[in-house]
Amino acid sequence: MLTTTSMKTHGCGEVTKNDLGKEITIAGWASAVRDLGGIIFVEVRDKSGVFQLVSDPQKNPEVYDVFQKIKDEYVIKATGTVTIRPDETYNPKLPTGEIEIYPVSIEILSTSDVLPFPLNADDVNEDTRLKYRYLDLRQEKVLNCLKLRHEIVKTIRNYLNEYNFLEVETPILIKTTPEGARDYLVPSRVQPGKFYALPQSPQIFKQLLMVGGIERYYQIAKCFRDEDLRADRQPEFTQVDIEMSFVNQQDIMNMVEGLIHEVFKLVGYETPEKLPVITYKEAMDKYGSDKPDVRFGLELFDIGDILMNSNFEIIKDTLKQGGIVRAIKIPGIANYSRKEIDDLTKLAISFGAKALANIIYMEDGTAKSPVLKFLTEEQAQQIKERANAQAGDVVFFVADKPKVTYDVMGRFRLYFGEKLGLINPDAHALLWVVDFPMFEYSEEDNRYVSVHHPFTMPNLEDIDKMETDPANCRSIAYDIVYNGTELGGGSVRIHSSEIQKRVFKALGLSDEETKEKFGFMINAFRYGTPPHAGLALGLDRFVALLAKTNSIRDVIAFPKNSSAKCLMTDAPARATEEQMRELHLRLTTKID
Ligand code: AMO
Ligand code: AMP
Repeated sequence: MLTTTSMKTHGCGEVTKNDLGKEITIAGWASAVRDLGGIIFVEVRDKSGVFQLVSDPQKNPEVYDVFQKIKDEYVIKATGTVTIRPDETYNPKLPTGEIEIYPVSIEILSTSDVLPFPLNADDVNEDTRLKYRYLDLRQEKVLNCLKLRHEIVKTIRNYLNEYNFLEVETPILIKTTPEGARDYLVPSRVQPGKFYALPQSPQIFKQLLMVGGIERYYQIAKCFRDEDLRADRQPEFTQVDIEMSFVNQQDIMNMVEGLIHEVFKLVGYETPEKLPVITYKEAMDKYGSDKPDVRFGLELFDIGDILMNSNFEIIKDTLKQGGIVRAIKIPGIANYSRKEIDDLTKLAISFGAKALANIIYMEDGTAKSPVLKFLTEEQAQQIKERANAQAGDVVFFVADKPKVTYDVMGRFRLYFGEKLGLINPDAHALLWVVDFPMFEYSEEDNRYVSVHHPFTMPNLEDIDKMETDPANCRSIAYDIVYNGTELGGGSVRIHSSEIQKRVFKALGLSDEETKEKFGFMINAFRYGTPPHAGLALGLDRFVALLAKTNSIRDVIAFPKNSSAKCLMTDAPARATEEQMRELHLRLTTKID
């Protein structure tokens, strides 16, 4: 037995009927302590499962005396011979439900206070669970998530090792990595006024490993990003980080498809050999999202051409200024009350729209809408045909800047997918999104920024658009999406310093800034850089999705809460004055 130690012969869940008549020693946490008129039952639990102990004062009074002292969560060790349970205590729900021991010796190894929350109850507040995360880990659900995470990582390592990848660790105290979030900074004591950044990803290092001739690299890498947190974002998270030399986009896709095929097998799903591929443009046009949930339809459609000929002046103005219109047909909701329809408008406004138009197709064949007055009968008919609307359906549309229109309609689509129960929770919808734009305009920074990161190769067909039409320059970047979540993303990298310089220029970085930020990288690329490409999968998201839990916090042993705080240790915490002095730091804001 691999789990045998000097203190136990078996894991509690490992004892089987084959062990009948054998003397075993098990150890773990006491639970379900029950005194049934003289006879005491205790379950012992360890990582492998639970096992029942029984004590009868007639059989062994000394052992019984110890049993009387045992309370929930005491750590105990018991030795006895495996016997079959009498029918009346047989528990078919437990793998060890047919067997038990009457210990011949029992020891309390440590006692326990009453726990701050009951284990395996459904309604425990998450803050309490996180404060006592070490107790939370004793719960079956949480333990199962960690076990699944372990299996997934093991499978990933096996797969990549099989394909000649080298697992290499990269540093944590580094110079900034440009992934678009804020850096976590660490002040240097020995170099006053200077700071390390924690890596937002190992991006720069994995590319330098390619220059170093490693050819196939992976790392189960910790990444740090100071960004607003959500259920699928943590300030520190883990990537399965991959980089390969002498490959193109298709090579990376093949490798990753093989990898996720192995991982999905763990939950009993055979992924198709080739995953569907859609372009970024198609994803935005049909689903209003670059991570479309394709488990259901409700595809968006364009009616801008029809409205452009109408008298709908506000919308025509929006279109003339570069805006777009997207519409969605929601079947069978024409009987919604006025208030329900108004609430949907409010919902769209909360998503960022200025307004939401609707056309209700009544059961009697007529259409009802505040916008019909702007349309000729023919235009109204064209919209009905484009939507393929039947009596009972409602068509909604928004006209706005492309980003707002896509975002609002994408979220509206997801809202109805859920509300109408169109999403099959057991479906597995995996796909690639390719041809991401190279740049997007940042209103905040007043310049173009990278959609992926600045080392991403522009699509060679669009390369001159970097200078003339950056908004329409595509990159060779790809994401893998699972059930509406971005599981991973990557790109083919630039390996020519000429192209890299042009990208930095398009990003508005001066030669000095480029040198200061990435000089070492540009230097490295002067010494023979192989063509290379890679991708990183969000491991926490991957595990959470396969464990079917809503939050990645559930699959991280010690997660932070939504304020990036560790409720268990109270990190982040104040530094002492002495530490601050040593680090040459002084707070400029008074903090209570
Ligand atoms: P990217 O920024 O797309 O790419 O990150 C890759 C994947 O990491 C996961 N992820 C996160 N998971 C949890 N919490 C977060 N805060 C968080 N941020 C990202 C997502 C995402 O798809 N260096 C590039 C990869 C490459 O080009 O090879 C990178 O980091 O699942
Ligand atoms: P009125 O209230 O008569 O001005 O009609 C305007 C109608 O057009 C309302 O139903 C609005 O919801 C709709 N509307 C106005 N602007 C937009 C827009 N940008 N996108 C979608 N619908 C709009």
